Amino acid sequence: MCGIVAYVGARDAVGIIISGLHRLEYRGYDSAGIALCQEANGPLLVVKTPGKVLDLEKSLRDALLPYAGKKFTLGIGHTRWATHGEPNRENSHPHPSRNGNFAVVHNGIIENYGELKKRLIARGYSFASQTDTEVIAHLIEECYEGDFRGAVAAALEQLEGTYGIAVISRLHPDTIIAARQGSPIAIGIRDDETIIASDVSAIVTHTKQVIYLGDGDIVTATRENVDIASLKNVPVSHEMTHIDWDISQIEKGGYEHFMLKEIHEQPDSLANTLRGRLVPSEGSTRLGGMRMDLPDMAGLSRVAIAACGTSYYAGVVGKYLFEDFAGIPADVQQAAEYRDRNPIILPDSCMVAVSQSGETADTLAAVVEAKRKGIPVLGICNVVGSTIARETGRGVYLHAGPEIGVASTKAFTSQVAVLAMMAIAFGRARRLSVAEGRSMVDEMARIPDLARRVLEQEDAIRKLAHKYAGAHNFFYIGRGYMFPAAMEGALKLKEISYIHAEGYHAAELKHGPLALLEESVPVVAAVPDVPGKIKTLGNMQECKARKSPVIAIATENDSSVTAHCTDVIRIPACPEFLAAIPVVIAEQLFAYHIAKARGCPIDQPRNLAKSVTVE
Ligand code: AGP
Repeated sequence: MCGIVAYVGARDAVGIIISGLHRLEYRGYDSAGIALCQEANGPLLVVKTPGKVLDLEKSLRDALLPYAGKKFTLGIGHTRWATHGEPNRENSHPHPSRNGNFAVVHNGIIENYGELKKRLIARGYSFASQTDTEVIAHLIEECYEGDFRGAVAAALEQLEGTYGIAVISRLHPDTIIAARQGSPIAIGIRDDETIIASDVSAIVTHTKQVIYLGDGDIVTATRENVDIASLKNVPVSHEMTHIDWDISQIEKGGYEHFMLKEIHEQPDSLANTLRGRLVPSEGSTRLGGMRMDLPDMAGLSRVAIAACGTSYYAGVVGKYLFEDFAGIPADVQQAAEYRDRNPIILPDSCMVAVSQSGETADTLAAVVEAKRKGIPVLGICNVVGSTIARETGRGVYLHAGPEIGVASTKAFTSQVAVLAMMAIAFGRARRLSVAEGRSMVDEMARIPDLARRVLEQEDAIRKLAHKYAGAHNFFYIGRGYMFPAAMEGALKLKEISYIHAEGYHAAELKHGPLALLEESVPVVAAVPDVPGKIKTLGNMQECKARKSPVIAIATENDSSVTAHCTDVIRIPACPEFLAAIPVVIAEQLFAYHIAKARGCPIDQPRNLAKSVTVE
């Protein structure tokens, strides 16, 4: 949702915080701010502005003029995704306390802020913003009797909701207090400095030694020391994690947008996802992190898949894979719906939670609910050490590398690859023969090359995108494995081009949506040469009959589609169970080039954020 960075050390805090905020901007980018402290009892310099981190830098330049030549060695910064109060200067973080002694940055939602605010106002406090966060600053001031950590802990104990916070005080110019309940906080450890941030992309340029805070933890950090305890001040120890990726992976690498870079990374990210996990000799896969042995897999009665957005569509492909190849009944839920509808939990069932960021609050809530009901939960995550990865404690990492573009791309194709590998593993423990397993494993080994060959179609796809960039509405259709592929294609277009698009099962159009088709409404049909093609060709005819231009995503050299479409995007031949991967890569490029032709802010689409850490 929002991005937090905090620094205490010998170096200039301004540069480190600002570059960290740039790295976290994909989390939220509607306003930004920074608070700096130079010496004890000196004023906290608070600068904040609506807009991007670049706008903050502009305001900061003027604000720092009186301090020319002086160094700030302590500070906190924030880039925001508004939840309470519109994006403006007053509502952007940091929020100072009434007496100016404390400043707070926060990621999350304080659910009982209304009642706390009322009580504070009754006790003479006035509020400068409409945010939930400001109550924290005033509560700390109210609880402060000389013990900085104690005051923050006492304030936090009054909160209900989620938070990742960092606090500084002009009374303690060498200390940062940070805490987490539901929103991620990582601590970067280096000899003479400590960097705290919402995620490691703001830390890896400084150190690869990181500690992740757990829920209910509070850390007192100085240059030399990091002290983690519970709010009740019971010491808590955490293992140090070594971050195994480097800065180049979070740079654009010569591409104009992170999204385009990540689309083009898919041959490599898919190869990384498969590495060491395909076992042709056994006609199976090795997914050690699941910590599930064959009898467990054989005894499974049901799989419940929970996820949101793009991960949800990967989950729909997973449902087909588990049912087709492992013979396990599977249902897939929008994660928020999972808990709210109080699902019937069968014994011997398990949940698979799919989340790129591993921080999506709705998916986390579904995981907690399933664990409460006592079923094993497997996580499929990309971010190592993320909350869902730690909450599930078992599962499969994508190893797709950091995904910065808000529109998820390489995570989707790696999620489908992992779900296919899981289905093979479960299948081999149940009804899949070694020969069947081996042919699937052999097909999977071809995926990186499949992705490469779709990327070679970029010029043709760009031309088509320019042809249709003026449309205001799109439909995407598909059957079987192509149905979730169609929904994902529509989501990609919506997210980055702001064009209204709907993904439908191809058979569903005639039950209503067909009424919307006309010349100005293109239809993208996912129709590779796999089962369901013939019927989809019929549905494409229905669309053409209503004058809608039909863009087919079809298998190379398959001439059967030509008469049923206006334009065609060719993808390499591949088996049905993997076809969502090349189809969706083609859809990603189509959406990207339409958005580019429309001049949209592709990496940071309006109103969205990379990981949605509030419910
Ligand atoms: C996808 O492009 C979106 N960014 C969004 O739908 C995303 O897939 C969803 O928020 C789930 O995120 P997660 O995979 O990190 O849980």
